[in-house]
Amino acid sequence: MSDTALPLNSNVRVALVTGATGYIGSNLVKRLVLEGWVVHIIVRTKSNLDVLNPLASSIIQHMHDGSTKGMIDLVAQAKPNTVFHLASLFLVQHKPEDIEALITSNLLFSTQLVEAMIANGVKSLVNTGTSWQHYHNEDYNPVNLYAATKQAFEDILSYYVEAQGLKVITLKLFDTYGPNDTRAKLINLFWKAAHSQEVLHMSPGEQVIDIVYIDDVVAAFILAAEQLCLQTQGQKIFGISSGHTLRLMDIKDKFELITGYKLKINWGGRPYREREVMLTWNKFEKLPGWCPTISLEEGLIRSLPKDLKITDAR
Ligand SMILES: NC(=O)c1ccc[n+]([C@@H]2O[C@H](COP(=O)([O-])OP(=O)(O)OC[C@H]3O[C@@H](n4cnc5c(N)ncnc54)[C@H](OP(=O)(O)O)[C@@H]3O)[C@@H](O)[C@H]2O)c1
Repeated sequence: MSDTALPLNSNVRVALVTGATGYIGSNLVKRLVLEGWVVHIIVRTKSNLDVLNPLASSIIQHMHDGSTKGMIDLVAQAKPNTVFHLASLFLVQHKPEDIEALITSNLLFSTQLVEAMIANGVKSLVNTGTSWQHYHNEDYNPVNLYAATKQAFEDILSYYVEAQGLKVITLKLFDTYGPNDTRAKLINLFWKAAHSQEVLHMSPGEQVIDIVYIDDVVAAFILAAEQLCLQTQGQKIFGISSGHTLRLMDIKDKFELITGYKLKINWGGRPYREREVMLTWNKFEKLPGWCPTISLEEGLIRSLPKDLKITDAR
């Protein structure tokens, strides 16, 4: 992977992406490269870059040393038009020993990033929030400490917006899924269980889920970047929702119907989580011009793992 900046001309769109080794970030990087952006990414020493190997010659990698000065130098080298901030530590339930890592990833790193943007005159940020900032569909009620750090960063952004002229679009995501997803998420879990035919011990399954296909999520990030060019100031916040909610047990039924695989699920085999989300947030504004294009049926077929065949089991 190259570590030097490419020559720029005024028409070139330059992105700086954090969280580029993650599931959504790596898919965003692929799309940006395809659409002709010059793409810089921020990594750390322990980052696993395997997922980006096919794009190695098309992206410019910057190692962040953890310091604010290091971040300022890094943004100065990248000279992005737009920063896409997706890096985050996600923990459903934290333990005392997680506090440092949670604050480092979700607040320190994030604040260093925007401080470095301002120091370099970079004003456009697409930030990533979560629907979990809205437990019980409330204006603010964090499901967990992870969601509280997202809210805390949103508050920090208010300072940079009001005092430093930063322009922000924060996209609040719901659940996401798609091909080659290695995260411990629902659809992935279903595919693994379909493959192994092992019994999945799940909660009673009445919780509702709003799940969006990865290509639609990525499209929202790119549209947000375009809209930031026209936004003169402020922070806008949009929910990136499928527009539908389904109970977990209904998603299982759909999965079986569409893929032909039968899942062995022990409903109630484990209790609901503390603060399980039984009601999803629906008081969000929609990102103008964006709507999901991939149905759950289509998305499930597209997310079929390479070692499974839908027609085999139907
Ligand atoms: N269901 C969802 O997918 C969902 C829902 C709501 C919100 N979101 C948000 O969407 C974003 C992307 O989610 P994802 O599921 O794609 O994430 P992911 O697969 O868990 O990847 C997390 C990314 O963050 C990076 N990161 C974490 N801490 C870092 C630090 N201190 N410095 C630099 N990089 C750091 C990781 O880099 P390393 O390779 O170095 O570990 C990795 O690239 C996150 O902000 C997440 O909170 C996702």
